[in-house]
Amino acid sequence: MRTPIIIGNWKMNMGIKEGVEFLKELETLKFDIQAGIGVQAISLVDMKKNASKVLIGAQNVHQELDGAYTGEISSELLAEANVDFCIVGHSERRQYYNETDENVNLKAKQLLSKDIMPVICVGETLEQYEANETKNVVEKQVEISCKDINIENCVIAYEPVWAIGTGKSATFEIAQNVCKIIREKLTEMYSQEDADKVRIQYGGSVKPETIADLMKCPDIDGALVGGASLKVASFEQLINY
Ligand code: PGA
Repeated sequence: MRTPIIIGNWKMNMGIKEGVEFLKELETLKFDIQAGIGVQAISLVDMKKNASKVLIGAQNVHQELDGAYTGEISSELLAEANVDFCIVGHSERRQYYNETDENVNLKAKQLLSKDIMPVICVGETLEQYEANETKNVVEKQVEISCKDINIENCVIAYEPVWAIGTGKSATFEIAQNVCKIIREKLTEMYSQEDADKVRIQYGGSVKPETIADLMKCPDIDGALVGGASLKVASFEQLINY
């Protein structure tokens, strides 16, 4: 039985105080699933201090343990701040910061060595989707990003790039189909038993109106949500689908 996990990806939004106020409200709510928020690095310490049931995560980590990497964030500091998870390989990072599957794999290993749960994002671009390349692209991303890691301690997020922030969500059928492809690929790489333990999220224009049907899909165990996670009321509807 996989515990559903819904994570808000705040991206480069929300102030430090504002985020803590939001979190305090969330903490008063009742919910039965795992709920988490991915915040800007500078908010992590304050957020963690105020979190008891809500998971708090970073949005990036460097693949090296330490060294001359100006501006980067180390897994060691994430661990020191008691961060629960870290998003890696988000399409915005792949697109704007040239993050590759190889980097994502190293980052996931670095996080796992500190007991921080990687949320590994994969997903095809519009061009690839239109050229019917989704299966190949996603399988390749999973093959490299998820290589030789303790997979059951990771979450995989399938986020078609064309659905992120566009209001154009994938249909439940597409989302389920690709999440199933991911689980099958993990079965091939690891074992059925391991693959069955991995939680796979869908992300891309998830809204309170669409979450319940998404969560009914057999291979979808949660969601990674951008826009709709920025208001307490809508986040509450998401985690209480
Ligand atoms: P969105 O973002 O829900 O605003 O489409 C999702 C994401 O980027 O993780």
